[in-house]
Amino acid sequence: LMIRRPPRSTPKPSSAASDVYKRQQFDKETLKRIFEITDKIRDNPIPMLKNSGFLMSTLFYEPSTRTRFSFEAAMKKLGGDVISTESATNFSSAAKGERLEDSVRTVAAYSDVIVLRHSQEGAAEAAALACPDTPIINAGDGEGQHPTQALIDLYTIRRECGGVNGKSIALVGDLAHSRTIHSLLYLLAQYKDIGHLYLVSPEFVKLKRELLLHVAEKDIPLTISADLKEVAPKVDVIYQTRLQKERFDQNDFAMYQKYHRQADYRIDADILKLMKPDARILHPLPRVNELLPEVDNDPRAAYFRQVENGLYIRMALLVMLLSDTDFILNQ
Ligand code: NCD
Repeated sequence: LMIRRPPRSTPKPSSAASDVYKRQQFDKETLKRIFEITDKIRDNPIPMLKNSGFLMSTLFYEPSTRTRFSFEAAMKKLGGDVISTESATNFSSAAKGERLEDSVRTVAAYSDVIVLRHSQEGAAEAAALACPDTPIINAGDGEGQHPTQALIDLYTIRRECGGVNGKSIALVGDLAHSRTIHSLLYLLAQYKDIGHLYLVSPEFVKLKRELLLHVAEKDIPLTISADLKEVAPKVDVIYQTRLQKERFDQNDFAMYQKYHRQADYRIDADILKLMKPDARILHPLPRVNELLPEVDNDPRAAYFRQVENGLYIRMALLVMLLSDTDFILNQ
């Protein structure tokens, strides 16, 4: 689930339950609108929610740096206010055994929008069903999805590469557990004119079947590969991810440790040499050792620009949920 309440400009869903799934994918029309508003806000960041009294709660049951700070910065820059708990697992009533639904209903009583991160897939959807009157923004639900990150990623690709049409894009790393990959793939799958999609990972973290089938049935040329060196020269975008250490259980932790140390899926100066001169490297961050700092100063390294884009995307989303976007679009 992305947003419980759809942007005001889109028609109200006939049935909330059946729309939960669809809305999180955003159709192309909605994407266009979000990106348009993001560009306007970036050029002219007006505090549109000043004196509104609007309060955003960030309820994070998993660690975060970028997602939480950027949402909070976005709300404050818009003139709204924020309440938050940094570690809801330890410092909210969850520590006493409260159900997520009850905690969210409580926080909803005090807030106009809730940004939720949780370790369980489906948590945001459950929260949204528990409080139908307050928009819930999914800031990552376990290995499920991370839809606002996907918006940032797609916006960054468009901004850096001038669009996705004809572009070859490689998604690399932990395809099984990376929620950012899952959400991004759902978005990309809507663009039939993408040149080529490459899924690059070791076998033990390959993309799960359901999502693979979803992408495979589109008309986009698709290659599954285990060889980053072979794919690197062919693509316009490499989207790198870290092995999601926290998603491995005891049984497969040995595999994590084995691959964690290997250089096969690492972006370093050698991979840079193979890449096209105008290609781009994206990463949702945090990086561990799958993307070396020696790459940072190359103009193709776009991940810190991607971070900055996150602020504007989240400002746009908050305005769309809480205010009137016509004002922004008509300026
Ligand atoms: C990602 C996440 O939390 O899923 N980070 C982010 O929000 N930018 C990626 C990750 O943790 O690897």
